[in-house]
Amino acid sequence: MTYKILLIPGDGIGTEIAAEAQKVLDRVLKLNGGQVEYSYGLLGGASIDETGVPLHEETRALAHGSDAILLGAVGGPKWDKLDHNLKPEQGLLQIRSSLELFSNLRPAMLFPQLAQASSLKNDVVSGLDILIVRELTGGIYFGHPRGIRINDAGEREGFNTYIYREHEIERIGRSAFAMARKRDKRLCSIDKANVLEATVLWREVMTSLASEYSDVELTHMYVDNAAMQLVRDPKQFDVLVTGNMFGDILSDCAAMLTGSIGMLPSASLDKNGRGMYEPVHGSAPDIAGQGIANPLAAILSVAMMSRYSLNEVAWADQIERAVSKVLDQGLRTEDIYTDGMTKVSTSEMGAAVVDMLDH
Ligand code: IPM
Ligand code: MG
Repeated sequence: MTYKILLIPGDGIGTEIAAEAQKVLDRVLKLNGGQVEYSYGLLGGASIDETGVPLHEETRALAHGSDAILLGAVGGPKWDKLDHNLKPEQGLLQIRSSLELFSNLRPAMLFPQLAQASSLKNDVVSGLDILIVRELTGGIYFGHPRGIRINDAGEREGFNTYIYREHEIERIGRSAFAMARKRDKRLCSIDKANVLEATVLWREVMTSLASEYSDVELTHMYVDNAAMQLVRDPKQFDVLVTGNMFGDILSDCAAMLTGSIGMLPSASLDKNGRGMYEPVHGSAPDIAGQGIANPLAAILSVAMMSRYSLNEVAWADQIERAVSKVLDQGLRTEDIYTDGMTKVSTSEMGAAVVDMLDH
């Protein structure tokens, strides 16, 4: 079996961390006799510079022909002044939408070695292991009508549409229930059903799905409360499922519980398990080019890719074990550095994980 993998390094630190992730994947392939055919694509700022648009047809076609995509990060100040529709982030939204990657898995898990790096007290976060399932191709991000217009009173107004169709709620619900089933069998659906009709329907559909997954306990929570509970007592959660915008916000919050956003991978899956894998962090233009970015989120994204798109669960375990052992050795990039540890660069961290795979 030869897997077709599209590499999209993107912008900023994306290129640095994607290079380390690829080295790790190459080593895993070598150790296990796996075969991969790589292709390379442009997205975001890199694509704008080369082709004038944030997602070019060529990258889109490559993406559709791949089993999985590994993405670094997109965006940066260089492209901030462009028209809204030509900004790097649009490339990301377009590729998610074009491939129908509706199910975004964002685990927030604390490596015990990094408990000190969290801004929360040790006992609040130690052992933390939660999964946010975010709907990724609908909701207010994609709803129409949208825009900025001049109203009858001659004043400018900006508007967006928060819309969820029943089938969109149902498919993300199924995805989340299935994830919960493989974990602690507790699913909390996050909405704002006390105010927004779109989420009244969301709650109804989630509730009706529950009878098909009777082994999973379903609860509901308003998003404002969920934000509070995530910092008060995050370990009460197992799997959370929510819409596009709430998921965007809550996943950043959950990420920070773990001490560094530089540690967290994500998967965006379609209904057949084809996926795009990317670190939760962005392109970090402030530290790009310095060789200090943390490549572990990208490396752990390769583990998620192995697990969900390649069905090579053993490879995923190997990578995650190697990362944990490297942390045991005290190696830290700047973002997760604490006193007494050994500070390493992006490429030193990547090389350490590659070496550790052999042990
Ligand atoms: C994310 C990011 C994106 C989003 C941006 C860059 C468009 O914040 O993946 O969470 O809002 O989805
Ligand atoms: Mg975000």
